[in-house]
Amino acid sequence: MKVLICGGAGYIGSHMAQYLAEAGHSVTVLDNLSTGHRDAVRWGELLEADLLDPEALERALHGRQFDAVMHFAARSLVGESVADPYAYYANNVTGTLNLLAAMRRHNIDRIVFSSTAAVFGNPQSDAIDEDHPKAPINPYGASKLMAERILADAATAYGLRSTCLLLQCRRRPARPRHRRGPCLRNPPDPQCPACRIGHRQRHEGVRR
Ligand SMILES: NC(=O)c1ccc[n+]([C@@H]2O[C@H](COP(=O)([O-])OP(=O)(O)OC[C@H]3O[C@@H](n4cnc5c(N)ncnc54)[C@H](O)[C@@H]3O)[C@@H](O)[C@H]2O)c1
Repeated sequence: MKVLICGGAGYIGSHMAQYLAEAGHSVTVLDNLSTGHRDAVRWGELLEADLLDPEALERALHGRQFDAVMHFAARSLVGESVADPYAYYANNVTGTLNLLAAMRRHNIDRIVFSSTAAVFGNPQSDAIDEDHPKAPINPYGASKLMAERILADAATAYGLRSTCLLLQCRRRPARPRHRRGPCLRNPPDPQCPACRIGHRQRHEGVRR
């Protein structure tokens, strides 16, 4: 498959790029390098573009074909989102909308969206399944939940096929042959329930 990885210069996106490339897929990365790294893009072409710039997005996609998009491009620090919610809603909601509109123009009808356990807010139990109520307690989690809702509405309206990954804050060693080590940019935030769950599960050896 030809996969466009938005945010593929970041921690998770660059590992996904390596994983897909090693599995035989064709990978292209779209990233504005705001928190990502040019030298993390080693498994496909880098299209430097900002999801908040629809014209740059259009230029990046023009003349290219993709079977699917994986969307990891976001701002993702809980404390920062509380201090500057406009920036978080703009990047994570408007940026996602711009991406979805561009995908529709270019007939790409599949997306994997990197969401977060922060959409659940204060967890009601240690084990969280997909039926757990979603009640985010910070703008970061709220922005991700809004994007999830947009994806659900896009499925109904346009037939968009999407999967949301509910990731928990986790830092793991890099994959073999991946130069970057554990993500040190995003230290666990004690105010973030997702971080607390992630840590508890990591200590207990539970895999995500
Ligand atoms: N790392 C974790 O533990 C964790 C946990 C839960 C959810 N997530 C989610 O997974 C995704 C990736 O997280 P990460 O830790 O790899 O973050 P990261 O900051 O390392 O990667 C994000 C990438 O997106 C790019 N980006 C951000 N805004 C952009 C924009 N407007 N246009 C283009 N590129 C943009 C950045 O430059 C960066 O390369 C995020 O959506 C995050 O919310 C991560």
